[in-house]
Amino acid sequence: MAFFTHQVRRAFSSSAVRNVVIKHVTIIGGGQMGAGIAQVAASTGHTVTLVDTSDDILKKSIKGIEGSLKRVAKKKFADKPEAAEEFVLKVLQNVSTSTDDASAVQGTDLLLEAIVENLKVKRDLFGRLDKLAPKHTIFASNTSSLSISDIASSTTRLDRFGGVHFFNPVPMMKLVEVIKTSTTSQETFDSLLNFSKVLGKTPVSCKDTPGFIVNRLLVPYSMEAIRLHERGHGSKEDIDIAMKLGAGYPMGPFELGDYVGLDTIKFIMDGWHAIEPDNPLFAPSELLNKLVAEGKFGKKTGEGFYKYK
Ligand SMILES: NC(=O)c1ccc[n+]([C@@H]2O[C@H](COP(=O)([O-])OP(=O)(O)OC[C@H]3O[C@@H](n4cnc5c(N)ncnc54)[C@H](O)[C@@H]3O)[C@@H](O)[C@H]2O)c1
Repeated sequence: MAFFTHQVRRAFSSSAVRNVVIKHVTIIGGGQMGAGIAQVAASTGHTVTLVDTSDDILKKSIKGIEGSLKRVAKKKFADKPEAAEEFVLKVLQNVSTSTDDASAVQGTDLLLEAIVENLKVKRDLFGRLDKLAPKHTIFASNTSSLSISDIASSTTRLDRFGGVHFFNPVPMMKLVEVIKTSTTSQETFDSLLNFSKVLGKTPVSCKDTPGFIVNRLLVPYSMEAIRLHERGHGSKEDIDIAMKLGAGYPMGPFELGDYVGLDTIKFIMDGWHAIEPDNPLFAPSELLNKLVAEGKFGKKTGEGFYKYK
């Protein structure tokens, strides 16, 4: 499939490439997150190349982006259907697709990875593309639970590597966690913060620690809710009602777990438990392990803590 190369726009200092102004973004992984990020980046005037492993997947990604854009346009241009149509077309024109990541990284300012949550696969991808991407290109991962430093060390551009963690669904969720490792340069970090702001998001600065801010608080909270239930302190329904009405949360912890995916929660917990086996916040749950072993991952499989039709 076609991809575009674009003029690189950079600000130079006397000695090194600094403060890359991100205009062209290459997103690797056109799943839930990658497609969402592509939509938002294209809507805010960036040119985007979306990369995945097959044309069929990419077709689905573009269809999803189009459907989401139409919903946005319907609200934005309520009484002007022509303007709405024009908006959707204009944004879609900013997105091209490719199954050839080696070509897609040419001339890009930012390489943003949103592929499967597996350290080896991410390291292999970045290590390979490091040799092919232009020198100024910033590399960033959207990982939820892996260490950015562990991913970045597969490359030689440790100063131009950071984390940009979006939330699902990307077009709706305002937050972006921008992660600075001990080797990320201030210029790279500032470019990523600025990029997040240009996307219309609110960035927060995070250190490269497990779960950054949101998941570091949210995942142990979800696990403690499950353990509370396992100890017989409350039904799932009562715990969900309690947190919604008592703490003002939009979803209870069991509803949220089913929405996020119980396999994802287990994957994150297992990873952290392996790093800190004595931390009681990261202790495994029998109930969660059982549900995942039975393939009950939540909404996406039709059953998790609750059943879905
Ligand atoms: N789903 C969430 O709520 C969420 C939130 C924040 C961050 N994340 C992180 O974002 C990343 C992606 O998550 P997702 O939910 O979008 O996953 P997903 O399964 O929906 O999408 C992943 C996509 O990557 C593609 N892919 C896999 N390996 C590839 C490769 N080598 N080259 C190109 N494409 C490849 C797959 O075909 C798939 O389309 C993960 O690291 C995850 O931890 C997820």
